Amino acid sequence: MRIGILTAGGDCPGLNAVIRSVVHRAVVGHGDEVIGFEDGFRGLLDGHYRPLDIDAVSGILARGGTILGSSRLERSRLREAAEKRGELARRYELDALIPIGGEGTLTAARMLADAGMPVVGVPKTIDNDISATDRTFGFDTAVTVATEAMDRLKTTAESHQRVMVVEVMGRHAGWIALESGMAAGAHGICLPERPFDPGDLVKMVEERFDRGKRFAVVCVAEGAHPADGTMDYKKGEIDPFGHERFAGIGNRLASELERRLGKEARPVILGHIQRGGTPTAYDRVLATRFGWHAVEAAHRGDFGRMTALRGTQIALVPLAEAVARLKTVPEDRMHEAESVF
Ligand code: F6P
Repeated sequence: MRIGILTAGGDCPGLNAVIRSVVHRAVVGHGDEVIGFEDGFRGLLDGHYRPLDIDAVSGILARGGTILGSSRLERSRLREAAEKRGELARRYELDALIPIGGEGTLTAARMLADAGMPVVGVPKTIDNDISATDRTFGFDTAVTVATEAMDRLKTTAESHQRVMVVEVMGRHAGWIALESGMAAGAHGICLPERPFDPGDLVKMVEERFDRGKRFAVVCVAEGAHPADGTMDYKKGEIDPFGHERFAGIGNRLASELERRLGKEARPVILGHIQRGGTPTAYDRVLATRFGWHAVEAAHRGDFGRMTALRGTQIALVPLAEAVARLKTVPEDRMHEAESVF
């Protein structure tokens, strides 16, 4: 079998672990040939690829990013890929294509699968917002990084009697804010799923200082927004890929809290630090399992599907299911963290 693999969309710790796993299972387990397309679907369309053998993936398990490079592609070019699927499959003599990516990539993968290309998708995103899988790799790493950052910020906040407003990633789903906020013991958590009232945060900080505490940490998802009429805040524009640009809630909230409290508040925007560097052990294992199962699915001819974690087992689910709905934080998970909302 000749298998093509690509990584598309925003990168994520664990991508290299999937690539390595696919190559090991395919080459050693089945005697297959694997080629890697460079910079996502762009490599597939423009003919940029390279052979991947065991040596090519040596030493990459713990490496962040993706050795293949990644990119976001305009919808028009993705449609071009779907229209040319027959020609592309023939050009590269592909028996299977394994695209690894988030919602945009899996939508593209579905277009290609619907057009008749033999596709097995692998989900990735640090946001953990793909509904068909219990977890995506990269999420555990992002939560670990954000938790460590807040642990560190607490000591400097306390020395200076400050409020730290820590902005983490998560445009429409607040999983990183919820779990890192809980793990770090943040005193306030703001999620995109539930508009917040800055007045509640002011009250919380004042109560803490009244009790003799000398600092507070608020963890805010980049997509969180204040409830109508509680604070001036303008939402961002839409970028060329259809994603909303965010207007900097971390900065805005820190200045609002500083003004209302008369205490120093500092914004800390964690940004891409959450996506860079080595994946945690959990993410390496999940990514490796996804890669192994994607190859097995290709050998069974189980196309038009993607790997998914269901409980502790890896399942193959229709790509259509994967992109049908965004997995946001449900009410019951918010209740568990309520004391810090
Ligand atoms: O989807 C993953 C993600 O890391 C989001 O959490 C974040 O909003 C976005 O990508 C950032 O994208 P970019 O790398 O294009 O700035």
